[in-house]
Amino acid sequence: MSSRIVVLISGSGTNLQAIIDACKSVDYPGSVVGVVSNKSDAYGLTRAKNANITTIELSHHDFDSRENYDNALITKIDQLQPDVIVLVGFMRILTPNFVQHYQGKLVNIHPSLLPKYQGLNTHQRAIDAGDKVHGVSVHFVTEELDGGPVILQAKVPVFDGDTSDDLAARIHEQEHRIYPLVVKWLCQKRLSMETKDQTEYAILDGNTLPISGYAND
Ligand code: GAR
Repeated sequence: MSSRIVVLISGSGTNLQAIIDACKSVDYPGSVVGVVSNKSDAYGLTRAKNANITTIELSHHDFDSRENYDNALITKIDQLQPDVIVLVGFMRILTPNFVQHYQGKLVNIHPSLLPKYQGLNTHQRAIDAGDKVHGVSVHFVTEELDGGPVILQAKVPVFDGDTSDDLAARIHEQEHRIYPLVVKWLCQKRLSMETKDQTEYAILDGNTLPISGYAND
């Protein structure tokens, strides 16, 4: 049975597009049943509408606390009966209640080789540090910001003279390859998260993944 995917966005949603496109393949085990944005001008909403996907706009400015916003978000998302919740540049810090509610089925993509460069401005920080390799991580979301167990990473080279925009473009290409793949594993129920000794681990096909995720070399 096809899994129900809900995607949360704040912006352009090129990764949303990559997932929508992947879902067009007849053997893809899921479909996007809803796209939620906290910003009404997010271009990802247009991408969703073009693909006849239900869209929900829920502005955090209409709520007096993070808790109230996230509770309203949970209500909206649950109406879509999701199996998998995918964060795509959703620029909100999530409450523990929200994270726990979707534990094990909530994933994020972060533009760095986690645990390096949690937070913002990751490309510039990699350039400033003189890194020769940069990358992107897909990880389960836990209560620690950008701290959940990594599922899959992709690396890109950093060339002399690269700007932050150069790196963002190079990273985006990799994101569009790895995110639909991880979402597919989740839809197939091959992927889960387990806690051992108060540490969370990503499990793929029964194997505990190393700290940098699957197939990292
Ligand atoms: C992606 O590059 C993603 O890694 C980043 O936002 C971008 C969204 O692009 N996420 C974060 O920075 C999360 N901390 P998109 O809207 O074109 O998919």
